[in-house]
Amino acid sequence: MIRRKLIAGNWKMHGLTRDLSFLGEIGPAAPGCDILVCPPATLLASFASTARGSGVLTGAQDCHSAESGAHTGDLSAQMLADAGASHVIVGHSERRSDHGETDSIVRAKAEAALKAGLTPILCVGETRAEREAGRAESVVAAQLAGSWPAKDGETIIAYEPVWAIGTGLTACVQDIAVMHGFIRSLIVDGSRRRILYGGSVKPDNARDILALEDVDGALVGGASLDAASFRAIIAAAV
Ligand code: PGA
Repeated sequence: MIRRKLIAGNWKMHGLTRDLSFLGEIGPAAPGCDILVCPPATLLASFASTARGSGVLTGAQDCHSAESGAHTGDLSAQMLADAGASHVIVGHSERRSDHGETDSIVRAKAEAALKAGLTPILCVGETRAEREAGRAESVVAAQLAGSWPAKDGETIIAYEPVWAIGTGLTACVQDIAVMHGFIRSLIVDGSRRRILYGGSVKPDNARDILALEDVDGALVGGASLDAASFRAIIAAAV
């Protein structure tokens, strides 16, 4: 089973119009590897139109579960697709903690994404305390059971240990390998699903992480803001 690698950048709450120059700086799309950038929603349409033809895909960072309605400040999956997104991150740990998103909310978002023709990138991951208590696998299993969409379609998983996000700490390759194998064994059609690792992926650790058999790419936060770093991580994937 050949699973194409995916290097996805998550800009979080960073990025202004002037940062669209990023697209010219990351270089040509690498054969054998998909590249996705998830800018803030304000840049989605302009990023997608600038990226057209470059091979770089555009994704959103979140969506609402409803198709439309009285939800001030929210964006539906259909709106994101209309703006040019092909993917959307759902259930990122910052959404789970900042906005109280539960597994069932995340599942509804993933289902809304699939319905709108978007590929959801479903994030799961344990906290430091949960790992230290030996509960990493049971926490991730429960998140997957609670948030996996009940709708067919391409769903990408991102395993992001919460304690590794934005901290400069990464899980050791052995723990990543074990968790990715575990996730693959749990999900429907596991052998064809892409499972990304996220949490302080940098140019200097990307090669070892991306070489693992069950790691099909990376979800990159901080290092995706710098074109040279992001380019180096893409280079490590191919
Ligand atoms: P980080 O973020 O690479 O800055 O740790 C990863 C993420 O939150 O997706």
